[in-house]
Amino acid sequence: MLAGKRILLIVGGGIAAFKSLDLIRRLRERGASVTPVLTRAAEEFVTPLSASALAAQKVYRDLFDLTDEAEMGHIELSRSADLIVVAPATADLMAKMAAGLANDLASTVLMATDKRVLIAPSMNVRMWQHPATRRNRQVLEDDGILTVGPTEGDMACGEYGPGRMAEVPDIVAAVEDALANGPLKGKHVVVTSGPTHEPIDPVRYIANRSSGAQGTAIAGALAALGAEVTFITGPADRDPPLGVRVVRIQTAEEMLTAVNTALPADAVVCAAAVADWRMAKESGSKIKKDGKGLPVLEFAENPDILATVAGLKKGRPTLVVGFAAETDDVIANATAKRKRKRCDWIVANDVRPETGIMGGSDNDVTIITADGAEDWPRMTKDQVAGRLAARIAETLG
Ligand code: CTP
Repeated sequence: MLAGKRILLIVGGGIAAFKSLDLIRRLRERGASVTPVLTRAAEEFVTPLSASALAAQKVYRDLFDLTDEAEMGHIELSRSADLIVVAPATADLMAKMAAGLANDLASTVLMATDKRVLIAPSMNVRMWQHPATRRNRQVLEDDGILTVGPTEGDMACGEYGPGRMAEVPDIVAAVEDALANGPLKGKHVVVTSGPTHEPIDPVRYIANRSSGAQGTAIAGALAALGAEVTFITGPADRDPPLGVRVVRIQTAEEMLTAVNTALPADAVVCAAAVADWRMAKESGSKIKKDGKGLPVLEFAENPDILATVAGLKKGRPTLVVGFAAETDDVIANATAKRKRKRCDWIVANDVRPETGIMGGSDNDVTIITADGAEDWPRMTKDQVAGRLAARIAETLG
């Protein structure tokens, strides 16, 4: 149910913090990856080592930890998650969230995020019932923050009443609910990805260096926001993401057929590196060295899938996004490509070998829309995917 989902777990400093360790375990059992962020106070209750061991991930602790910033800035940390869970959410953390304070890593991540946030409050009954907390609860609810618990019962402080953090299975259920009802729920998005292989003869083919990494990440990020994703992929290095409908193809013509079959869609993202040409006539048998000279390969042009979808008169998806892999005059070429192919957005990138983008884990993109060009900083392909999916959700929403 949570396969492939990325959860950022902020652990506040309360007696219930020990339950967050079990929460990490349960979320991971269901296939999610969990990145823990501990507040200073949380470290009084659980050690970073135990959180890190259970999550099998680095634990983030300090806003001013330069190593963290070099690896992943706090903005990216918050945006690369599908959901942020705050458990336990103390009275102090809730007050900070309600007031918009950002003076440590946890509160800064919460201010910087564009993802949904689920809190599991935990505090003494009097603190829970205090007018300040009541006001804060209302503010958080108005801000769209999701809440699970608290429950009523005996408290560590010896009192009885509401304030106990929800039990771990209930938090897991709330996480599943939050993710199943993402902003792209009910939307169908088609993603093309990877290279195409154009056969020359039964043993040889024309291909390109696309790994399928960016398309795979985009399909995963869209699914994480609740979209129904049809993932049409050429022979790529990566496994397809979980939770999407996978259609495997070899050639550009097969990819076009698969896209047409998958329509209608609310959005189509063409991240595939489609071969521009195929053989005019594929040889049915292996071309042999027959001593009569070198073979001459005659090409025919492949259909342009992006231009075909973007040019549909009937049933055109609301949003058609293309990519532009360029080696020269990136912005000018990509801007012209957007107009020529009539798509809504073009994600432009510089694929000169020295950038390390083709086949690498990072990407450096500029988003070109009718409003102009928006340069994004260099980030991982997963982060580009998360941002793009959020932008698509905003546009379709
Ligand atoms: N594309 C497509 N079908 C094709 C060729 C390209 O759908 N036959 C899509 C790609 O998926 C990408 C966009 O068009 O979203 C641009 O691909 P790119 O290779 O950069 O552009 P080309 O059309 O091949 O243009 P050129 O070779 O002139 O750069």
